[in-house]
Amino acid sequence: MHQGSDSWWTTAVGYQVYIRSFADSDGDGVGDLRGITEHLGYLELIGIQVVWITPFYRSPMADAGYDVSDPREVDPAFGTLQDFDELIAEAHGRGLKVIVDVVPNHTSEQHRWFRDALPTAPGSPERARYLFRDGAGDGGDAPPNNWASVFGGPAWHRVPGPDGAPGQWYLHIFAPEQPDLDWTNAEVADDLHATLRFWLDRGADGFRIDVAHGMAKPPGLPDAPEDSAAAFDQVQAAADSAAADSAAADHAAAGSDAEPGHGVVPSTVDEDPRFDDDGVHEIHRGIRKVVDEYPDAVTVGEVWVSEPERFAAYLRPDELHQAFDFSLIESEFTAAALQQAIEKTLTSAASVGASPVWTLSNHDVARPVTRFGGGERGLLRARALLLLELALPGSVYLYNGEELGLPDVEVPDDRLQDPTWERSGHTERGRDAIRLPMPWEGQEPPFGFSSGPSTWLPSPQEYAPLTVERQLDDPHSTLNLVRAAIELRAEHPAFSGSTVSWYGAPEGCFAFRRDPGGLAGVLNAGDGPVPLPPGEILLTSTPLVDGLLPVDSSALFLASAPTD
Ligand code: GLC
Repeated sequence: MHQGSDSWWTTAVGYQVYIRSFADSDGDGVGDLRGITEHLGYLELIGIQVVWITPFYRSPMADAGYDVSDPREVDPAFGTLQDFDELIAEAHGRGLKVIVDVVPNHTSEQHRWFRDALPTAPGSPERARYLFRDGAGDGGDAPPNNWASVFGGPAWHRVPGPDGAPGQWYLHIFAPEQPDLDWTNAEVADDLHATLRFWLDRGADGFRIDVAHGMAKPPGLPDAPEDSAAAFDQVQAAADSAAADSAAADHAAAGSDAEPGHGVVPSTVDEDPRFDDDGVHEIHRGIRKVVDEYPDAVTVGEVWVSEPERFAAYLRPDELHQAFDFSLIESEFTAAALQQAIEKTLTSAASVGASPVWTLSNHDVARPVTRFGGGERGLLRARALLLLELALPGSVYLYNGEELGLPDVEVPDDRLQDPTWERSGHTERGRDAIRLPMPWEGQEPPFGFSSGPSTWLPSPQEYAPLTVERQLDDPHSTLNLVRAAIELRAEHPAFSGSTVSWYGAPEGCFAFRRDPGGLAGVLNAGDGPVPLPPGEILLTSTPLVDGLLPVDSSALFLASAPTD
């Protein structure tokens, strides 16, 4: 029995709006709340049930809004509180839920708390909301421990003392402009709870919780067993090598001289003291108590924890309702690896009675088309997986532009904005290539995204054939495939079974069956076309050729009889 098994969120199709790049209503080149309101009809047309909006709070934008200086105020770049209220009213009028992003691990350095802390002496109550520590070594000249920032360089920054001489250091797991909060301080939890109530009272239907595996830190902040910078590099290297594979194809497709972008994958290294400390679960229990005051509200955590039991611990009945399981994002495109990722997600969610959340894409990782090789092959593979994830039990989140099959397009050096670029000494390009403005209509950039002359990140000419307008007219477009799959999922009774079993499939393929109902899904990641098992075909990601499922394609069908 699933936790809240009849709750709306257990089966919902969600859509991540990366607000800066979705739709700009006022011509300043940055997407905003009114832009979202104006495009809710589009989300309804796709069949979306819940919209996750990335941070739109007051922010100096050192990390595109994930550095929040006032979590209960709208940044003027994105609109006003009234715009938010109108968005909620309009969304609810259309039957759409809205969840907002909260960032409990850190604030902006411009947050009132941090500004108050800087002029005070070590040990002050103001400093006790953050993780200020004396440095190591002679004169405290070295960082207090060996932790690395996810964006490159050390996770510590030194500030002057009240006398102006070099003083204490503060911890920032992300950019120096994002000081980590000290969650052992009760004021920190109280303030987050006030933020949760603030948005729930205004009608939000729940939260995506940023870095939900962060927040708690091991007492004494011990060194990482091996240098955590090195540990992070391994994760980054793995992400880079996946992206490198796709580089050549994407390069050819985009006709550009630049390397394609790839995401910063927040650490999934086990034994990394920066993340997944056991103390985090008490914090989630506190969040859950507040959210439970609001019937039907949901929390979805960003949990980059790869070990299944540790991941599942976040989904216990008194913690998060749901968490993004990134196994599919981390998987290479082989039937064996993808099957394993699906099984892992199903098993860990089931172990605590939770419902799985499938996702192939977000604003932090290379888009699937690019990850899977770019060009035509990358698109085929991305479509194949999109179709299959929409057929699995649980909920699904699409990232804006994923329904259009957008690839990453490299951003010129002088337009890069991701803090990773500076922090890595210009060796890691960061996530900008993943975050480009949505192409809505027309032949020329910015394709209806903005009425203004320039956009915060470039709107690439490569997106001309991929606009919403063009794809709505093309029955074979990725957009229409996604629409058809979501419609089937909403209407066909076979999409309600919660048991997944696997059955024999040719080399390089997998086949699953969902019961009760007999919905079956097949992936062909092999070397040649394959026949489909007997049954009624519902939808394929690529047209069949002579009755065979082509390579890099998937099919959904109703299996004609139980197979084992
Ligand atoms: C999360 C966000 C990412 C952000 C980071 C720091 O991983 O998804 O975009 O940079 O947290 O807030």
